[in-house]
Amino acid sequence: MDIISDPAAFQRVCWFWRLSGAKTALVPTMGFLHAGHASLLEAGRERADKVALSVFVNPSQFGPGEDFERYPRDPGRDAALAEAAGVDVMFTPEPGAMYPPGFATWVDVPELAKGLCGGSRPGHFRGVATIVAKLLMLSLPSMAIFGQKDWQQLAILKRLTQDLGFPAEIVGLPTVREPDGLALSSRNVYLSEAERAQAPALYEGLRLLRDWVRGGQTGAEALTARLRAWCGERAPLGEIDYLEIVDPDSLTPLGQVGDRALAAAAMRFGRTRLIDNLLLSPAG
Ligand code: PAJ
Repeated sequence: MDIISDPAAFQRVCWFWRLSGAKTALVPTMGFLHAGHASLLEAGRERADKVALSVFVNPSQFGPGEDFERYPRDPGRDAALAEAAGVDVMFTPEPGAMYPPGFATWVDVPELAKGLCGGSRPGHFRGVATIVAKLLMLSLPSMAIFGQKDWQQLAILKRLTQDLGFPAEIVGLPTVREPDGLALSSRNVYLSEAERAQAPALYEGLRLLRDWVRGGQTGAEALTARLRAWCGERAPLGEIDYLEIVDPDSLTPLGQVGDRALAAAAMRFGRTRLIDNLLLSPAG
């Protein structure tokens, strides 16, 4: 596996692959890789001839006072995991190479970015959309692979590639979880022992909500109120940041759960913010 930090060198490798007819996959990450990231790399290995992994803690998607500085980093361990997953090139740029002096162009999908995580993290998705657009331009992959854990991010990136005509398929894959249901996340290492014990309540609660829907309760307001009360009991250390039932594509809030609906939630445990979501439709 090659490790490249120069964007122009990364671009040369990826464009060479494409020009020689290879099917290529890009897996963008912020590193501190875990089994969730590995599942995306494995899917890339299966679906493409060449797999590029980017590891870049993107400063523009962190707000003031967020965890950019203390975001966990372990480049050595990431390289070992990537190598074991069969990655061909790991791209590890410096912030100054992705945002050189004078950088002034932003990609924004405001309609999809205004609610859910975008409501509590203003500017976050503008940073995500901009860096992913840059990574897509640099690597021109046949496909880019993302996790459904970050459902809103995935919806925004699908919209962005369609609207701007990027010739890449956007692939979204299921969330990988701990045995107790907690979604794997690089931020889980922030949790204290007591917080970690209560954190599975987020997914437990979403599944409970799905059971209530299957039992015939379909009013979104009553459902979310019931779940908030349940979370207060089950996870007193957690504080719900948002809990909403939305259309899975447009992300607009729904009054009633119909054929297709997504329950999405964010919960804070101390300084750690965890997110999760679950499709409530029969297909879920
Ligand atoms: P990061 O949080 O490192 O996640 C990288 C990719 O891994 C994302 O597509 C995310 O949805 C996916 N992922 C995270 N946890 C997962 C899990 N438990 N199961 C399956 N997939 C999981 O998301 C970002 O980085 C950044 O915003 C990025 C897209 C790289 C732009 O900077």
